[in-house]
Amino acid sequence: MIRPAAPADHAAIHAVVAAAFGQAEEAQLVEALRADGDALLELVAADDGAVVGHILFSPLVTDNGRRLAALAPLSVEPGRQKTGLGTALMEEGHRRLAAAGIEAVILLGHPAYYPRVGYSADLAKVVTSPFNGPGFMALELAPGALSQPLGITYARAFGL
Ligand SMILES: CC(C)(COP(=O)(O)OP(=O)(O)OC[C@H]1O[C@@H](n2cnc3c(N)ncnc32)[C@H](O)[C@@H]1OP(=O)(O)O)[C@@H](O)C(=O)NCCC(=O)NCCS
Repeated sequence: MIRPAAPADHAAIHAVVAAAFGQAEEAQLVEALRADGDALLELVAADDGAVVGHILFSPLVTDNGRRLAALAPLSVEPGRQKTGLGTALMEEGHRRLAAAGIEAVILLGHPAYYPRVGYSADLAKVVTSPFNGPGFMALELAPGALSQPLGITYARAFGL
């Protein structure tokens, strides 16, 4: 089941994120985003009470008033990958963000993975950010949200 993360999940989330990435850096990023109040939406995939996947969205400051979020990081326990959990975490996240008025999501990730849920590097080309290239992708939750050029600033914990 996919559900919002609770404080009681924090230790298990750290373990899942560190296991997925094979290092602690992304788990520390999650904790820094939380500490700064920048965990806009945090969901876990739970199986029989155990956390096996996690996703975090943080707010982006935009120069045109659009409400955007960044997806990072996305983690699935190594033994549970390729069973649809990453896709389910993103899709539930997008539903909740759209309902909360977020108009688009930006990410930096594997160019072969994220297009399956609608992300596009072409769509991200209107966005001025510290990133570009094929891994810099965007998804519109509100049609037309990325029709005009815009600049974005990431949450402080990204250190950009
Ligand atoms: C990337 C990740 C979140 C995907 O989660 P998942 O639950 O395994 O993904 P899903 O089950 O929804 O989708 C699996 C599909 O994605 C593909 N896929 C997974 N990782 C991929 C990658 N890095 N590049 C391309 N395709 C990838 C799988 O091959 C599989 O393809 P198939 O459906 O054709 O068999 C997970 O592999 C993970 O935690 N990786 C380590 C951390 C990481 O890299 N996070 C993302 C940073 S950008």
